[in-house]
This record gives sequence, structure tokens and C-alpha cells, in this order.
Amino acid sequence: MNTADPLSIHLVLDHATLLTMDDGRPGPLAGARQGELGRVDGGAIAVAGGRITAVGPRDEVWRFVEARNERTDAVDVLDAAGRVVLPGLVDAHTHLVWAGTRADEFEARLTGTSYLDLLANGGGIHATVRATRAASFDDLAARMTARLDALVDHGVTTVEVKTGYGLTVDEEMRHLDVIAAAAAAHPAHVVPTFLGAHALPGAYAGEPTPDRGAFVRAVIDMLPRVAAHPLGLNGPLFCDVFCDAGAFDVAETRAVLTAAKAAGLGLKVHSDEFENLGATALAAELGATSADHLVATTPAEMAALAKSGTVAVLLPLTTIGLGSTHFADGAAFVRHGAPVALASDWNPGTAPCPNLWLALAIGTRYGRLSVAEALVAVTRNAACAVGRDGVAGRLAVGRSADAVLTDSDDPRDLAYGFGTNRAVRVMLGGRWVR
Ligand code: NIG
Ligand code: FE
Repeated sequence: MNTADPLSIHLVLDHATLLTMDDGRPGPLAGARQGELGRVDGGAIAVAGGRITAVGPRDEVWRFVEARNERTDAVDVLDAAGRVVLPGLVDAHTHLVWAGTRADEFEARLTGTSYLDLLANGGGIHATVRATRAASFDDLAARMTARLDALVDHGVTTVEVKTGYGLTVDEEMRHLDVIAAAAAAHPAHVVPTFLGAHALPGAYAGEPTPDRGAFVRAVIDMLPRVAAHPLGLNGPLFCDVFCDAGAFDVAETRAVLTAAKAAGLGLKVHSDEFENLGATALAAELGATSADHLVATTPAEMAALAKSGTVAVLLPLTTIGLGSTHFADGAAFVRHGAPVALASDWNPGTAPCPNLWLALAIGTRYGRLSVAEALVAVTRNAACAVGRDGVAGRLAVGRSADAVLTDSDDPRDLAYGFGTNRAVRVMLGGRWVR
């Protein structure tokens, strides 16, 4: 058992099957270790001051509580009755700042129109950009807040949130402000990402003179303002690029990410969602924190991610959302030693879905991850994918008391059953928020 912190204990989660995801060492789990759950049967967690102060076998935790507190009857105790308790889930890839709907495009896609054709013809991301630019600040903040509520309801306590439906400096900065305002008023931990290079605006693509370079330069020119945004003060701030057919090529992605790195931002990339352009090798070369999607990634690139320690963030709900059957091969990433995370990619185009439990269930069946590997992929490794290792993703002393009480006493059951919300209670910063 581990203990720390002089405050008196105010909350104990007792009689739990704990999956701590902790081995006392930093970094993600990869390869043969990807599925190490740090399981403690008959466990308990003690909380003081919003942090975990003791975690381990329940008799040891209670001895600690009795030594620490003058009265143990003042402690709020929740009996988990043997059910599985996980670290608060981490959703490492979302797009939550948007207005409007793409239900019309969804219907068109059902009868054969492709996602990339819609994008090339001014729809797709561009349709959401128009609706989002037209929305007021308060409306966007309210929409993001409602989406954070839905995620927390599903057991997610740390959420990465991207901009990318602005695409001008003023709009992108406004969306960063929306993220800051919604995050400040919400208990969830929010990790912001600037995705200015999400799509090439029509003005740069069309007649008479298409000038892709001008837009890439405009995005690079936004970086100093992004890096100076108050959002970066309390934690990591990332820069992402959508590198794929119909979006940005590798040279453009390299230009943006190299400048972002020089500006002090962490790096992410949307890579190999539709076609392999080489962005995954670039992510490894630049030491990106994560590379995301990775449906069309080669074994050599998987090995490169393993070497650079870049987390492979797989997004099976996107494949479902696209009506595709081409899933990222999670088992191959594990075999090549790349740390794997699973995220929702919640967005209006390809993944209108807040249920990370479903990503877990699909990640086992079609990504061929074991249940244990997939559970690490939505906790410890997901925290590493958003630069929050040491803060989120594990049940360990000193960390924010973020935990999910599930509806089952068998970890396997959390991927076996699918389609429902497996979170019964959710603790965030030492308080029950569900
Ligand atoms: O992760 N691929 C780029 N971005 C999103 C989709 C955004 C949209 O269609 O609005 C994704 O799939
Ligand atoms: Fe995405």
C-alpha cells in the first residue's frame, strides 16, 4: 500500500476490485506489458483534499485511515461490493467545439456519397465550420459543457478537446477561449489542442489561384498567439494536423508541426485515417506525443512509434461512424511495441458518439486487443497520449481522486457486454459527480 498527505480522510471507496494501472514507473505500457492492470482484489481508496491518499488492500487502507483520522465515523464510505473500480477514463481525442448537425450528410453517405467527396465539395468539415462560425460564444460554450457532461456521465474525467472548426485566426482563438471558459466552469480535466490545419478553407483552394501555402503560412502565423493563450499555463497545450487525402500533405504537416514544436507546443497528428501519406513516420521523427487514427499504418511505422514512445491513439468509433470495416489493427501495434490508447474522436462528421465503453468493446473485437490491453488503452496510456501521465490514468497516491465504479465485478465483462454505459458512480477530484 502507498500513502501520503497529512489531511484527514473524508471519503473511502471500499470493497473494490481495483484496477490501479500503476507499477510506480512513469510512461505508458507497451508490448507484452500493455495489459498489466495492477489488480487488487478486496481493495480500497482513501481520499483527502481531492487526492488519493491511500490505495491498496482494504485492511491496510483502513489502518491508515484510523491512524490518520480522530473519528472514522465522519468518513463518507461507499461500498463497491466487489465491483471493478478503474481510474477515471481519459478520452484522448475529441472535437467538442461545434454547432449544427451533419445528419443530412449522414443520410447522403448511406446511399453512397463518400466522406472525402463531401469534404472536397465544400461540405464535411466546411459545413461544420460555417455553422460554428455563426454560433455565439455562449452557445458554443454551452454545447461543449453539455458534451463534457455526457462524457463525465460515462466515466471520463480527463478530456482532450480540439479546435479546428474555425480556420481563421480570430475564430480559432475564439474557440480556444470557448474551451477555456467551458473547462474553467466544469469539474472535468480538459487538455486543449489547436487544430488550425483541419481543412483547407475554400478561399485558398479555389479559382483563380489556389494557394495552399498561404493557408499553411497563416496557420504557422497563428502559433505564437496559440502558445501564449492562458490555456497553456496549467498544463500541456497541443498542436494537431489532419494529414490525409483531401486535407494536408506531409510537407505541409511537417511545416506546421515543426513550427509548433519550436513554439513549445506538444505534437499530435491525424494520420492514416483514409490513406497512408507518411505522417506516422513524421510523428515518430518529431517525437510527437501521439499519432491518431492509424488505420493504414505499416508495420515499420508501428515499430517507429515504439522507438519514439509516441502513443498510438486508435479510434474505432470513427470506423463505425464512417460505415467502414477497415479498423486499426491494435494487436499489431502491441506486437510491435507501440503503446496503444483508445479514444472516442467525438465529432459531428465521423464519430457522433460519447461512449468510450463502446470504443473499448470494438477495440477488442475488431482491433483485436485483449480486454486488459483495451482497459489500459482508455486509462494509463490515454493519459500519456495527452501529456497527463503523473496526473491522470492511474489509481495512485498523490493523483487527483478520479475513479469510476463500474457495474461488474469481472473486468472482462466491461468489454464483453457492449452498448451501455458501464459507469455506475464517477468520482472527480474526490467528489461524486455521478
Ligand atoms: O477525426 N479527420 C478529421 N477530423 C475528424 C472529422 C472531423 C469532421 O468530419 O468534422 C476525425 O475523423
Ligand atoms: Fe479527430
